[in-house]
Amino acid sequence: MSRSRRAPDDPGQATPGQGVPLWRLLQEASHALGQVRAGRSLTPVLEKTPPPLRAGAQALSFHAMRWLGSAQCARDLLLQRVAPGPLDDVLCVALTLLLPDEKLYDEFTVVNQAVEAVKRNARTRFGAGFLNACLRRCLKERQTMAAAIQGDDLARWNFPRWWIERLRADHPQGWAGFLQGAQRPAPLILRVNARRRDAADYLAQLARQGIEARRWGPTAVEIVHPLPIERIPGFLAGDVSVQSATAQRAAALLADGLVGQARVLDACAAPGGKTAHLLELRPDLRVLALDMDAARSRRIGENLQRLDLRAEVQVADAAQPGHWWDGRHFDAILLDAPCSGSGIVRRHPDIRWLRRASDIDALAARQDRLLRALWPLLRPGGRMLFCTCSVFRAEGDARLEAFLQCHNDASDLASPGHLLPASGGNSARIGDNQTCDDDGFYYALLEKRPARAVAVAARLRSRLG
Ligand SMILES: C[S@@+](CC[C@H](N)C(=O)[O-])C[C@H]1O[C@@H](n2cnc3c(N)ncnc32)[C@H](O)[C@@H]1O
Repeated sequence: MSRSRRAPDDPGQATPGQGVPLWRLLQEASHALGQVRAGRSLTPVLEKTPPPLRAGAQALSFHAMRWLGSAQCARDLLLQRVAPGPLDDVLCVALTLLLPDEKLYDEFTVVNQAVEAVKRNARTRFGAGFLNACLRRCLKERQTMAAAIQGDDLARWNFPRWWIERLRADHPQGWAGFLQGAQRPAPLILRVNARRRDAADYLAQLARQGIEARRWGPTAVEIVHPLPIERIPGFLAGDVSVQSATAQRAAALLADGLVGQARVLDACAAPGGKTAHLLELRPDLRVLALDMDAARSRRIGENLQRLDLRAEVQVADAAQPGHWWDGRHFDAILLDAPCSGSGIVRRHPDIRWLRRASDIDALAARQDRLLRALWPLLRPGGRMLFCTCSVFRAEGDARLEAFLQCHNDASDLASPGHLLPASGGNSARIGDNQTCDDDGFYYALLEKRPARAVAVAARLRSRLG
């Protein structure tokens, strides 16, 4: 088998499928597609892939997720009836390799290896001739296919229609740039452990080792050509962690203004990325890291151990403080709330096909519940950072507005608001991350006004009529 070009790397996937025949990777990626179509998330599916195949299977599955809309559109033109599941999965993955302009493999290789993939599986063997005919027809009729794809939103943008409509309504300027950007693999960004070294020093080490890298923020460094985690200098020793530059804004926003051994609640903490960052910046903080998911909570402990940091970790529902709160107020609360993940589709390209339009309202209601339940735990003068890795206003500004309407003791401090990569600066609040083309996120920073200040403001309001 020959490969015309290398598959694009995804973070941590330095050698996707090197030495593994493409037909074998196609089998794995097709299985993964079948699982996503059945509603399962790609991460645990790929974790079960045999280790020698994992990097290649991930690169190919991610690619398939990014171009699935186009592939399904072409498939519907080619066929009157969809083929049985496993065969359709191989067909669609192969189409994602034939349709986009940028080709990962030459066309002959794709057709040949896709046919090989179905022949070598007892469940799909019967369809080898059919698959061969479909893929060859697709190549012959490529112009018809391309025109059909351009004429259909889902096929063109490779996102569900409801997602495109919501994004267009929420960000009339930036939606198309975001969707386009979402087709590219995410950059591999590290957080340099501020307790041990600074980013400039780490960059210098990388340069000495011949690893191309660049600075994204105070502690954020991009490895330009991604490496597997164990080959990242200093990772095992705890000098660096993997965390997007956008996510790295949380700790600094919350730590700013905290003095002494402040008590901080990280209410939705697992796997502990932001907890650890907070402690790297401010080792003196006393942090309670809470998460309701026991398995994910274990990862908080593992991460803190690698970084030699300490926090109290508890498994509990943050929305029910009656079950776990000791009654002592916190100086600061980080609420990194459960959300659609619509801002991190570059890292998790399956999210777009897994979410349903109705999920957004349900998630917004969970976010409201958490905000309401946690606010009383904050001391007057304390700060709460509310964030989501979503680009939808329903999981950002709309939540903040709803909260402010019924909490007159909350002041909305300066914060980034909606960060929409490639948006070209349409954020209603401060700035956006157009200069660092990273994840989409939402940040709102709230301060609890002391009761006296609230009473004075109320009196003033009533006087002014
Ligand atoms: C966006 S993730 C948090 C990521 C984490 N802050 C980090 O930086 O590594 C959201 C987390 O919220 C947790 N979660 C969801 N609902 C919760 C609740 N009611 N109470 C506590 N944790 C919750 C989920 O289990 C999930 O781990």
